[in-house]
Amino acid sequence: MPPIDQSPAWKALEQHATDLADSPMRDLFEQDPARGQRFTLEQCGIYLDYSKNRITEQTLGLLIGLAETADLVSWRDRMVRGDRVNNTEDRAVLHMALRNRGPREYRVDGRDVMPDIRSVLDRMSAFSEAVRSGRWLGHTGQCITDVVSIGIGGSSLGPKMVCEALRAYQSPDLRVQFVSNVDGAQLAQLLATLQPATTLFVVASKTFTTQETLTNARSARQWCLDGLGGDAAIARHFVAVSTNRTAVVEFGIDPENMFEFWDWVGGRYSLWSAIGLPVALAVGNECFEQLLAGAYEMDEHFIAAPLENNMPVILALLGVWYSNFAHSHTLAVIPYDQNLRFLPAYLQQADMESNGKRVTRDGVAVDYQTGPVVWGQPGTDAQHSFFQLIHQGTRLVQTDFILPLRSHYALTGHHDKLIANCLAQAQALMQGRTAAEARAELEEHGFDAAAIQRLLPHRVFPGNRPSNLLLLDQVTPTVLGALIALYEHKIFVQGVVWGLDSFDQWGVELGKQLASEILGDLERASCSPGLDSSTAGLVRRSLAAKE
Ligand code: F6P
Repeated sequence: MPPIDQSPAWKALEQHATDLADSPMRDLFEQDPARGQRFTLEQCGIYLDYSKNRITEQTLGLLIGLAETADLVSWRDRMVRGDRVNNTEDRAVLHMALRNRGPREYRVDGRDVMPDIRSVLDRMSAFSEAVRSGRWLGHTGQCITDVVSIGIGGSSLGPKMVCEALRAYQSPDLRVQFVSNVDGAQLAQLLATLQPATTLFVVASKTFTTQETLTNARSARQWCLDGLGGDAAIARHFVAVSTNRTAVVEFGIDPENMFEFWDWVGGRYSLWSAIGLPVALAVGNECFEQLLAGAYEMDEHFIAAPLENNMPVILALLGVWYSNFAHSHTLAVIPYDQNLRFLPAYLQQADMESNGKRVTRDGVAVDYQTGPVVWGQPGTDAQHSFFQLIHQGTRLVQTDFILPLRSHYALTGHHDKLIANCLAQAQALMQGRTAAEARAELEEHGFDAAAIQRLLPHRVFPGNRPSNLLLLDQVTPTVLGALIALYEHKIFVQGVVWGLDSFDQWGVELGKQLASEILGDLERASCSPGLDSSTAGLVRRSLAAKE
């Protein structure tokens, strides 16, 4: 296939972007009173209002045409069919099978994967219920009160985000916490608050070779041995989640205490697998199953809905529109929900590790922008830090607002204020404030002509800044599952349009390799010849600090 940016569909969008440049959203809203209803979709407990985008019906039609040119439907079907769509790693991509709740078949090399999935889910359920009910006892016969999940990247960000998002569903009798950083501060500070006799470690690593995770796991094991004596303690205080049985056994964890998953589950798509064990421990298996069910509903929508009514497809194409036709290369994700505070970090990996690529799946360098820079933090805090730039800065930022209509917390008056702030931000970004409006306001406040002249440029908001608003009924396990699956599919669709393999992550390898060489230098207390002068100088300084 010729490069997507050479296609007639791409060229038509370029022309359309020029044509639409003189139609700010404010005008589009005035011209069409039904716009706020027209550009909406509702699915799986999520109401998506995408009317505050620089689009018309024609834009959407052209974007759908681009998706068709990129063969989206065929790629989606290939993924569902178990084809090796992760071509650089020669792997199928079947995280959807992990949450399959219906009759759909998922096969890898002709083999039905559902029996293995169900068997691991059953083991997770039995284990999490045993720990939660107090039937699983530690080495000294005490119940487990604290779980520490040790993992990094996809083996941590997903479960950590979900546990926090579902905090209202957690039992106070079992605290679940996460350690990811190899910086000993994280583990040491946490261990200082725990007792070995009542702590369970979940070592989560797809490969079971990740330096950070193994270093933390070894230190945790030593802490456990120091506190409880004998290797027998490990069997009651360590479980593993991995695809690598040999490495788990080598580490000293009983394979009976290992929960398996498979190479067709990408790390950043793995929270639905046994990597979700901390979630089942934190909120119970029933809630974990509801999370899977919500994702399944979104999967079925993604698989079946026509492109123009397909929520992940629409969200993805809007992102393509800004990245490739409106010079916007950054996406702010702003949940108006404190417990969704780890969602931006989760989406950073999901999106940037998937689509932060510069060559197509065939290895050809692209000539267009691919994945955006993803960032964010919860509103209303975000309003008081970086929103200034989104409103009046020189960069065009795409913003996704995520707003639950009902809170789990009953403090009077708080939730109305949260809703009002979120809706107001989206409104302000869209409509801005003209010079005439700003002038009228200053006059109303009694400013004299000279002051108005001076202040006016600062008080004007250009507006026409795009946002999506994702209204959730409430952050329940089901709705959360659907929300995460929505973003997963959105990322997939964008990867297809850009021609990428969204399921590999070669870009993280070089740093890992060089770190292990530098670590060798630090451990041998010598600086390898051939290092560049900057790195050599920094290594020497690091060695000097150890003396
Ligand atoms: O950062 C690279 C990466 O391979 C991620 O893709 C993955 O989620 C993470 O490291 C952790 O890997 P593992 O689960 O094998 O420890």
